[in-house]
Amino acid sequence: MAIRSVRDLDIAGKRVLVRVDFNVPLLPDGSVGDDTRLRASLPTIRYLLEQGAAVISMSHLGRPKGGPDPKLSLRPVAARLAELLGQPVQFAPDCVGAETVALARSLRPGQVLLLENLRFHPEEERNDPAFAQQLAALADLYVNDAFGAAHRAHASTAAIARLLPSAAGLLMQREIEVLSGLLEAPKKPFGAIIGGAKISSKIGVLEQLLARIDLLVLGGAMANTFLKAQGYAVGASLVEDGQLAVARQTLLTAEQRGVQVILPVDVVIADRFAADAALQVVAVDGILPGWTVLDVGPQTVERIRQAVARCATVLWNGPLGMFEFPAFAGGTLAVAHMLADNPDIVSVVGGGESVAAVEQAGLSDRITHVSTGGGASLELLEGKTLPGVAALAQA
Ligand code: 3PG
Repeated sequence: MAIRSVRDLDIAGKRVLVRVDFNVPLLPDGSVGDDTRLRASLPTIRYLLEQGAAVISMSHLGRPKGGPDPKLSLRPVAARLAELLGQPVQFAPDCVGAETVALARSLRPGQVLLLENLRFHPEEERNDPAFAQQLAALADLYVNDAFGAAHRAHASTAAIARLLPSAAGLLMQREIEVLSGLLEAPKKPFGAIIGGAKISSKIGVLEQLLARIDLLVLGGAMANTFLKAQGYAVGASLVEDGQLAVARQTLLTAEQRGVQVILPVDVVIADRFAADAALQVVAVDGILPGWTVLDVGPQTVERIRQAVARCATVLWNGPLGMFEFPAFAGGTLAVAHMLADNPDIVSVVGGGESVAAVEQAGLSDRITHVSTGGGASLELLEGKTLPGVAALAQA
């Protein structure tokens, strides 16, 4: 799908409306909890400013119920963006309307404006053409750099692209290039480490990947369903009983395609679901009744380490255990280190929780690509066309 790059636009002296994904966690004091997504948008914003544009940035934040919600205001994000850019960022208290039009018109080249949360208007999520028209009226050009929201067909990601000369931002381009590169021409051997809670949310990705990978590592609560499908008793662990047949079929497909599968051989179990639970390391045939699997065990980690060391490319999506509880973070952190410490591996981490684990461990700089998209990266890896990307292709 050919899409225009921001680098192909004639920018000098123009007002450029940039859709960014500033859907970031806010702390109880209202400040930005994790500014990864803000930092990821800086190359595009800086490029536009250097080229002589005035930048009008817009985003959603959270899921407001169709109207303004002070707790989901982007105002604190404007303050953090100003710190990161090292220059003032003006804030428009609404994303449309007379005051916003006036602010946008008064913007000079080199200046930045951030609009209030797009989702304070229900028309945004309805992909309403008239609302998109109001946004488009603020600028001369449209750039979509919100990869994290590219799986949403909303006014600011879809309808607007037809209304202004449009292009993909640098982050959007890189995300598409890296993630679709995994499906199109991965450097082999190609391994996938897939964790997280549910098979049902990852089955589309697993189906796509099985045709391309040489190694599949299964971890997280999802692995419990695979273990149960193989006849192991998994105690009180989270299991999707409706997915047992899917799990068996996945393992069969992997075998037929010659994909090496690593399932846990040992696990860390807890007597209850709590950070301070009593724990034991047991083989997978020794999971105690009433206990819950919360991490992979050391033997499993060793197997993963040996298999990953043979890979040229590794995609990691989903934690291997309940890493939010430090006692059960061992498997997840070990994988983060395996990827970060091996400069010969093209490592791609996607999906909110595994990204959070890499960030927490302070290792993201040593990963080839850490995706800013949770749902968007999964849908892209499922082989789906993302509406926000399709809109740019048609524009
Ligand atoms: C995300 O955080 O995955 C994106 O910002 C999309 O948010 P949404 O799931 O509320 O549309």
